[in-house]
Amino acid sequence: MPVHLHPLSVDWDLETAEKGGYDDFMTKEINEQPDAIRSTLLDRRRRDGTITFDELRISDEELRDVKRVVIVAAGTSHHAGLVAKYAIERWARVSVEVDIASEYRYRDPIVEIGTLVIGISQSGETIDTIQAIREAKRRGARVVAVTNIVESSLARESDAVIYTRAGLEVSVASTKVFLAQVAALELLALRLAQLRDTVPASDVDAHFLGLNAVAAQVATVLTRRSSVEDVAKQLLGARDFFFLGRHVGFPTALEGALKLKELSYLHAEGYPAGELKHGPLALIEPGVVVVAVVTDPAMHEKMLSNLAEVKARGATVVAVATDDDESIAAIADYVLRVPATEPMFSPMVDVVPLQLFAYAMARGLGRNIDRPRNLAKTVTVE
Ligand code: AGP
Repeated sequence: MPVHLHPLSVDWDLETAEKGGYDDFMTKEINEQPDAIRSTLLDRRRRDGTITFDELRISDEELRDVKRVVIVAAGTSHHAGLVAKYAIERWARVSVEVDIASEYRYRDPIVEIGTLVIGISQSGETIDTIQAIREAKRRGARVVAVTNIVESSLARESDAVIYTRAGLEVSVASTKVFLAQVAALELLALRLAQLRDTVPASDVDAHFLGLNAVAAQVATVLTRRSSVEDVAKQLLGARDFFFLGRHVGFPTALEGALKLKELSYLHAEGYPAGELKHGPLALIEPGVVVVAVVTDPAMHEKMLSNLAEVKARGATVVAVATDDDESIAAIADYVLRVPATEPMFSPMVDVVPLQLFAYAMARGLGRNIDRPRNLAKTVTVE
């Protein structure tokens, strides 16, 4: 019996379907951030409190005896590496150097016995990072990959691998993988601390709990999207942005600036706030926007005095501050509120309003969110 088929037109394509109802992949991926952290932390702690990485094929003895850590990465992954430096040095008491991958191989790097190189890459295919770990291996280093892609070149060429389990990231601007990278690296810092006995067991447990609380804090920030959009609306005419932070707020500031420049094509620079007086302050004038990460109680006073300096020169100040910070409103023109978190984990929370801000600015300026001009998701040629 003949079957009569009637063509049915649908007004969506495969890409739209994959976006799961969101306008773009970036929005989808930003919203997936709590899950990206949860998955990355899943099953990483045994009942006895030992932090464990199933995929880490380096013995405990070798990890314990590490003399120096060198981190190589590019872009957002480099910023995650900078956060890791603070955590590894603080908790495991090993000195850490963080290098831009494309610089590492051309500077005749020193690799002594006991050097552990960590290559961080979302894609695991970034040529600069792969060349950097090849150079490190040639010189005798043990190499750990931190990557989101199973069996990527970086994973295959390294001695060991820790997977961020953030799921596929499509948008050129990296978001959820940054959070997963920071979570994985801070966990590695705690593992190193356990092996080297540099942090009391009860403190490691408390840090682990703190790390696990981050996903919910990120989810809270995501509910505040519209207040970030309101701030972005007010600043759509601005052309120059300086992002400032101290301690782990510094890599957070770098990441906020990178998001804004790649998505909106506006001029944005990230600085450690203490560097302001050493040059950038000369660029501060009315019309310039200073975005400051002010969530760390230990850095609060110093940050406020930096902000007073830029305010006195006419800058507009946007502060990322915790819910309980009452003093910030007196100095900042706009405040992006976040829940308070353990300072070492704050980059995962504080970067979220900055991602949303960059997104809102780019949207307001009519930019292509998922495919910014001149950029590729993965850079496979030098
Ligand atoms: C981030 O938003 C960028 N698009 C870019 O800096 C990226 O992080 C960099 O190219 C590194 O990529 P990877 O993590 O895949 O190595």
